[in-house]
Amino acid sequence: MSDESAADSGEETDPQSAIDAQGERRRAELDDRIFDHNAGDEQEGIPFVGAGPGDPRLLTVAGMELLQEADLVVHAGSLVNSELLDEYCDHAKTVTSIGKDLEELIPLMRDAHREGRNVVRLHSGDPAIYGAALEQMDALEHEGVSTYIVPGVTSAFAASASLRTQLTLNEVSNHVAFTRPQGKTLTEEDDHISEFVEMGDVTTCIYLGTHAVADTMDRLIEDGHDEDIPVAVVYHASWPDEDMMIGTIGTIGEILEEAGHRASAMVIIGDAVTGAGYERSFLYDGWANRGDDGAEDEESTADETTETTTQ
Ligand SMILES: C[S@@+](CC[C@H](N)C(=O)[O-])C[C@H]1O[C@@H](n2cnc3c(N)ncnc32)[C@H](O)[C@@H]1O
Repeated sequence: MSDESAADSGEETDPQSAIDAQGERRRAELDDRIFDHNAGDEQEGIPFVGAGPGDPRLLTVAGMELLQEADLVVHAGSLVNSELLDEYCDHAKTVTSIGKDLEELIPLMRDAHREGRNVVRLHSGDPAIYGAALEQMDALEHEGVSTYIVPGVTSAFAASASLRTQLTLNEVSNHVAFTRPQGKTLTEEDDHISEFVEMGDVTTCIYLGTHAVADTMDRLIEDGHDEDIPVAVVYHASWPDEDMMIGTIGTIGEILEEAGHRASAMVIIGDAVTGAGYERSFLYDGWANRGDDGAEDEESTADETTETTTQ
C-alpha cells in the first residue's frame, strides 16, 4: 500500500487524515502483501514486534533478530521488561512511547527510517491485542513507510502457562474471550464480561482491568453469577516479580486489594483457571477410528494421522 502514498507528493499528512485515507484503501482493496508474505517473513520497512509478556526468553527468535539489528527501538514503556531491552537493545537508541501521541511518534519513526536507520516498534505481548498498532502502521504507510507485524506471546498465554492450565478444555471451556472492562474506553453497553461468564463455557481473559477487578466482580454478582466461579489475577506474568492471586468471583476483589496491584495483571475468569472437571479429548481417545465424523476437525485429524503413523 505504501508505494502510492502521500509521500510521493512530498506532502505530510496529519495522522488522523492518514488513518482515514488508509481506512478507505482497506475498504477498497486488499493489500498484496497479505498474499506475498507470511507472519514469519522479514519484510521491508518498520516491524511492529511483539515483545511477549516480559521474560526476555519469551520473545520470538524473529523479534530478537530484529532487535539485535535495530538502531532505534520505540517501546511500550513499563510493560516491556527492561531486562529484555538490556539484553537485546543495548547497542540501540531506545525511546518509550508512553506520553507520546501519534503526532510525535510517527515523525520520530518515519524520519529515522528515511535516514536509513533500522527502526523497531516494540509492543508488549502481541501487537494485535490492545496494541493500537494499526493506527501507527496506517499513518506510517500513508507517508510511504512500509510496516509489518511480528507476533508475540500475549499475556493471557503467559498467565495460563503460569497457572499450568489450558484456556480451552474439553467439557469445561470451548471458547476464549479476550476482553476489557468498561471505563474510559468502553461504555457499560460495550462491556460484555457478564455475557461471556453467562455462556458458561467461555474462559474470559480481561486485559487492562486490574484496577477494576472489585467493580467487575460486584457487577457479576449483581447479575446473579455464581460467586464460586474461579478467578485468577496474574500480575506481571513471566516477570521475576510475577504474583499469582487465585480466588473466586466472590473473593478475588479482597485478595487483590491485599496484594495491592492496580495495573499490569491478567484477570482470568472460568473453570479453566483450576483446570478441574475436564474430560479427556477426542483427539487422544480413538478419534482416528471414528470414520468420517472426525473429518470436519482438520487439525485433530491431521494430528491424529501423525500420531498414529509415528507411534
Ligand atoms: C495495553 S494492554 C497490552 C496487551 C499486550 N498487547 C498483550 O498482548 O499482552 C496492557 C494490558 O495487558 C496485560 N498485560 C500485559 N503484560 C502482562 C503481563 N506480563 N502479565 C499480566 N498482564 C499483562 C495487562 O492486563 C495490561 O493492563
